[in-house]
Amino acid sequence: MPRSVTEEQKAAYRRDGFVHIPGIIGKDDAARYAKAALAARDRQKDVPPDPTFTRVMQVWQQDEILRELTLDPVLATAATALAGVPLRLYHDHLLIKEPHNDAPTEFHQDLPFWPHLDSRHSLSAWVALVDVPARRGCMTFIPGSHRTEGLHRQDVRDADNLMRMAPELVWKPRVTVPVRAGDCTFHHSLTAHSASPNLTDDPRIAHVVVYMDAETRYDPRKRPGGEPLAEPADTTTGRPFPDDDFPPLP
Ligand code: SIN
Ligand code: NI
Repeated sequence: MPRSVTEEQKAAYRRDGFVHIPGIIGKDDAARYAKAALAARDRQKDVPPDPTFTRVMQVWQQDEILRELTLDPVLATAATALAGVPLRLYHDHLLIKEPHNDAPTEFHQDLPFWPHLDSRHSLSAWVALVDVPARRGCMTFIPGSHRTEGLHRQDVRDADNLMRMAPELVWKPRVTVPVRAGDCTFHHSLTAHSASPNLTDDPRIAHVVVYMDAETRYDPRKRPGGEPLAEPADTTTGRPFPDDDFPPLP
């Protein structure tokens, strides 16, 4: 049985909307996955450059090595324990901040980007494949912000967008979480989070696995324009997400 999260970690996640799990995968595995991540980035064609990060979507469907990480039962067990409801995979993506990228990821919530109906819970596992100190683009969270509901989608390139929508967040403490290769942070889909620019000579490589409530259905009204998005083939309102492309967690 894969190791799950402790009661303390669950309580921290419920209270704050995020939790840091050190060493969820081993250092050697992180190094192997980092190599595969850079190779997947180099294979990717026709994606317009984005200073914030180079993004490789749905890597589990293209790369056997990274598929192992996306479907890793240790991640799945921890995510299910934190969510408290049965989950399925929504999508994965590599988010690589290139050296000296000069572009932070500004504060935002994830859920407003997703075409989800009747979601009881959704969350992301952000797995560091290299050491990510604050200078390399680590994540910052606003504890408790997962209780801020009903906002429109925020622009990850606009530093004030979320703060204009929810001015009370301006005065909330923020927690910056430097992580070692193999560490993971889980964050609730409504937790406000940002990442600093990469000021170092090495790429910041994060592998992000996004989990959704297994019962969530498709809502095309929330489909964001231009955003690369994981979608079912049938995009009628209320359709289930098919198991082949959105596998339920064991
Ligand atoms: C980032 O890693 O730069 C942002 C990740 C996220 O928005 O979940
Ligand atoms: Ni995000």
